[in-house]
Amino acid sequence: KQAPAPPKKSRNFVEVMEKQERSVIVFYGSQTGTAEEYAARIAKEASQKYNVSAMTADLEEYDMEHLSQLPSHKLAIFVLATYGEGEPTDNAVQFWDMITQEETPEFAESDLSDMPGKPLKNLKYIAFGLGNKTYEHFNEAIRVVDKKLTEYGATRIGDRGEGDDDGSLEEDFMSWQESVWPVFCEAMQVSESSIGQAERTATFHAQELKDAPLGNLYLGELGDRSQETYDAKKPYPAHMQSRDLFTNSDRHCLHLDIDIKGSGLRYVTGDHIAIWPSNSETEVNRLVNALGLTDKVDVAVQVDAIDPAAPKKHPFPVPSTYRAIFRHYLDIATPPTRPVLGLIASFAPSDETKQYLEKLSKDKEAYKAEVVDACINLGQLLESVDNTHGAFDKIPFDVIVESLTRLQPRYYSISSSALESPDVISVTAVTLKYSPTSKPEHTVYGVATNYLWALHQSCHPESKLDESFPEYNVKGPRDAYLSEEGAKAPVHVRKSNFKLPRNPSVPIILVGPGTGVAPHRAFVRERAWQKRHGKDVGKTVLFFGCRRSDEDFLYKDEWPELFETLGGESRIVTAFSRETDQKVYVQHRLRECGEEMWKMISEQGAYIYVCGDAKRMAKDVQSAFIEFAQTYGDQSAQDAEQYVKDLRTKGRYQEDVWA
Ligand code: FAD
Ligand code: 2AM
Repeated sequence: KQAPAPPKKSRNFVEVMEKQERSVIVFYGSQTGTAEEYAARIAKEASQKYNVSAMTADLEEYDMEHLSQLPSHKLAIFVLATYGEGEPTDNAVQFWDMITQEETPEFAESDLSDMPGKPLKNLKYIAFGLGNKTYEHFNEAIRVVDKKLTEYGATRIGDRGEGDDDGSLEEDFMSWQESVWPVFCEAMQVSESSIGQAERTATFHAQELKDAPLGNLYLGELGDRSQETYDAKKPYPAHMQSRDLFTNSDRHCLHLDIDIKGSGLRYVTGDHIAIWPSNSETEVNRLVNALGLTDKVDVAVQVDAIDPAAPKKHPFPVPSTYRAIFRHYLDIATPPTRPVLGLIASFAPSDETKQYLEKLSKDKEAYKAEVVDACINLGQLLESVDNTHGAFDKIPFDVIVESLTRLQPRYYSISSSALESPDVISVTAVTLKYSPTSKPEHTVYGVATNYLWALHQSCHPESKLDESFPEYNVKGPRDAYLSEEGAKAPVHVRKSNFKLPRNPSVPIILVGPGTGVAPHRAFVRERAWQKRHGKDVGKTVLFFGCRRSDEDFLYKDEWPELFETLGGESRIVTAFSRETDQKVYVQHRLRECGEEMWKMISEQGAYIYVCGDAKRMAKDVQSAFIEFAQTYGDQSAQDAEQYVKDLRTKGRYQEDVWA
């Protein structure tokens, strides 16, 4: 007999707020979980400190036309991240499409909407955005939403906050909060001074389970067991084959072939694939040791959200075990925030440790120097203050769960062509390993790339690891295990706007140093495949840069045949930065071909694609194209800049860049 389906959740948030007596709703548009975490922090502070009952809401779970019905004594808060090239996050797309459409959206009828064109005149809202200044469209999502809400008659309370991940998102968020709570109190008619510091209330209820059947436990599995299709909510555990593209003492570059046959996943050339990593055993053990959980790592644990209106009933799949939670579900690698240090200080083993953690939580400078700039995670921090086993065993597990965010997938630009290879997705990933400048004795290993490297190494024991390389569990019970065919890891596909021109005869200019060559490999392979299948394929010029021709020249052996197939003036132009006294970068090579490039753009309608480092390379490359319009197109500096902007608008200048 089938269990009855759970009652359908209402999509009318005004109704839900009414029923649950909530005065504030905090909507989040979140891709990697940070906006979601900030929303939860705002809601918690509103409820706990100001006694104003607040709930968080995933934008895709509610019908936003009800915004017009939110009464003026209630408040909406928007916490929206901007993703990629000024795009909203996946869960905010529907709201974004509605609010940015040309015509006024059909808002639900409100008794009070008597002003034509101002359907949101009763709405009061607060706005905070998460962005990164490295990107052209900084905080586009919150800026546009703010503008649109105002246009439709809504009133913003306080200043719009804009966090910059290139600086410190956390500090921007904290100082914005300081400025916004007084105006929040005014709007909600609560007195800030009368409330003071409230007792902490728990967000989660965590409980050890006795006799939980092993088969029921989630030991790394992601998503809902009852869901039959694979997507971002339930990534597909895919087999992957790997090979080493280059290895030197501190960097390795992996080529992965990820088998999606039979999974129902599909991709289009230029899309991204998300890979869900696991944490290293070294870091898992460090934290488990500090928390005194070593003897019971495999005990079953249940974790539930206390608030019945929480968007997620559980922070991760449960029941699970301590070990699986730290290994697969929680981000134990990112430095803890100041509020987290303040929270755990009260459970410190000694007064001295307590004072030290409190100091870090209050003193921005000390925190920056000793935690952020030193790039240390929670386990490393706890170990550095007291390394006795179980020194921090007074920290309740629900506090740990609240303090750590969910382990997130990492995105990779797919380096295979969907026409040529529909069932196997390729990835080109370089391992990340660095030592913070302020703490050179400390080595940080990027979570996903070193996990992938460990998987690779286990299938290819001949590839050597450096001695200090962290230990990994590559034989996890479910989502990462080795087999004859290679390793397995959970993946999903994310659509991107980085797309070849529809007509293959249109010429293209590709610029991508380092792993920025990934989607260009896909493009070149696709065009060669089309050529082999009798299509008329346009000129294809690839500018690739790396350190040395004999060190990190990615896919060196593939290019000759591919470009021979493409023929004509199609070619790869290389820039080796460390072979000469002067650095030679892709933009230098581009400039050498400036006149030819300008002709391709202005006369032959070429499309330009830039991929890789967002911080410097993408900007330098854009400057080169602006220069071409000046030098060869006789345009003024202003016109040339506008010319490239227009190319972007028309989709003829596309970027796939990451910070
Ligand atoms: P993490 O553990 O996530 O560590 C990364 C973080 O470490 C950085 O965000 C930064 O905060 C910090 N950091 C890095 N270096 C330093 C330093 N020197 N000092 C202090 N802090 C530092 N990568 C590829 O290799 N190939 C691709 O094709 C590719 N495509 C991408 C496409 C998109 C759309 C995006 C968003 C990213 C892409 N990336 C690609 C990057 C990739 O997603 C990961 O960020 C990268 O592989 C590192 O992941 P990790 O888990 O190993 O490192
Ligand atoms: P470098 O490391 O020798 O400075 C891939 O990482 C290649 O991109 C390397 O050759 C690297 O050179 C080069 N690179 C570094 N900064 C760059 C920039 N601003 N523009 C273009 N290429 C750059």
